[in-house]
Amino acid sequence: MRARILVTGGAGFIGSAVCRYIIRETQAAVVNVDKLTYAGNLASLREIGDDPRYRFVRADICDRAALDAVFGEAQPDAVMHLAAESHVDRSIDGARDFIDTNIVGTFTLLEAARAYLAGADAGTRENFRFLHVSTDEVYGSLGPQGLFSETTRYDPSSPYSASKAAADHLATAWARTYGLPVVLSNCSNNYGPYHFPEKLIPLMILNALDGRPLPVYGAGANVRDWLHVEDHARALWLILNAGRIGEKYNVGGRNERTNLEVVHAVCAILDRLAPGGAPHARLVTHVADRPGHDRRYAIDATKLETELGWRARETFDTGLEKTVRWYLDNDWWWRPLRDKVYTGERLGLAGEKAAGKASCASR
Ligand SMILES: NC(=O)c1ccc[n+]([C@@H]2O[C@H](COP(=O)([O-])OP(=O)(O)OC[C@H]3O[C@@H](n4cnc5c(N)ncnc54)[C@H](O)[C@@H]3O)[C@@H](O)[C@H]2O)c1
Repeated sequence: MRARILVTGGAGFIGSAVCRYIIRETQAAVVNVDKLTYAGNLASLREIGDDPRYRFVRADICDRAALDAVFGEAQPDAVMHLAAESHVDRSIDGARDFIDTNIVGTFTLLEAARAYLAGADAGTRENFRFLHVSTDEVYGSLGPQGLFSETTRYDPSSPYSASKAAADHLATAWARTYGLPVVLSNCSNNYGPYHFPEKLIPLMILNALDGRPLPVYGAGANVRDWLHVEDHARALWLILNAGRIGEKYNVGGRNERTNLEVVHAVCAILDRLAPGGAPHARLVTHVADRPGHDRRYAIDATKLETELGWRARETFDTGLEKTVRWYLDNDWWWRPLRDKVYTGERLGLAGEKAAGKASCASR
């Protein structure tokens, strides 16, 4: 097990789950490097904020001097790289930040890690790992059959997935060319607590609670493969510590659902837990589809399951119920975001007039 972990993007949805997991479940120390964009939120780290093994550094991964200082001070034996611009609809409205953070930022971090290792002792060099966290969206869209495997050809559709694909190639090239001990992971749609309310599941929960429309792109037939964020955090820790250098591992929960099924499942849970607004499904509204909307994603996680012994613990039903309950119990976390940071406006119409329409992004 590695003992000093540099996590990038640890104030985001998955990064904060990783930081909480490491502090709660292991003896390792974490330095969380995050720029705190609109998606970064230190409130997600409240339960570990005072732990002596946890430290936060506000920095941009494009800032090489800041990264060199963090590496020098923290002397990490691993990097878990999650910092990214992550929202497909925002990448359609403007790709610049995606190119900067996801591509240039990843390049800068890889170079900082390489320089740090060049000056490190043999033991650190031997033990060090760089886990690059990516998405199944790099593989493009599936038809009705088949699953993404680790050898599926890259075929990204959106500015977001293209920027992540570029970052994956950089990470692989730094392993092959410079011998940086990189491991890659590509995961499916995450959901769970502390998920920013622009994303499908939290948006549907919060709109339904407010009695606002539940906007579904097109017919709602696009399929995603849902993974509970805590299952993902556990997988990432395992891949970091037991994954083979230069390999990639797909992470998925074997939970394929159409977007419409997801929205109806949220409504059914709310009908039981918040019966005042029932039936919540009356709020479902079909709106114009997202440009370039991939039809189906589905992950084959066999390699991770057989090689490293990981299994998802949550089914979609158990995980979704816990997630809805979490939003009902934790308005201290989401209400400031709904009031001030993102109020539910439609994003990602590629220049079409978007005012007043709500978003229903599936990621
Ligand atoms: N959420 C998903 O379903 C999903 C699925 C597959 C892969 N991923 C990948 O997992 C990683 C984490 O995703 P997430 O959903 O937690 O994203 P998120 O948007 O919730 O969090 C991203 C974090 O990165 C930080 N950040 C952004 N730009 C930065 C920069 N230049 N320097 C430092 N920090 C910066 C933000 O402040 C934020 O805290 C990303 O790499 C994403 O591509 C996410």
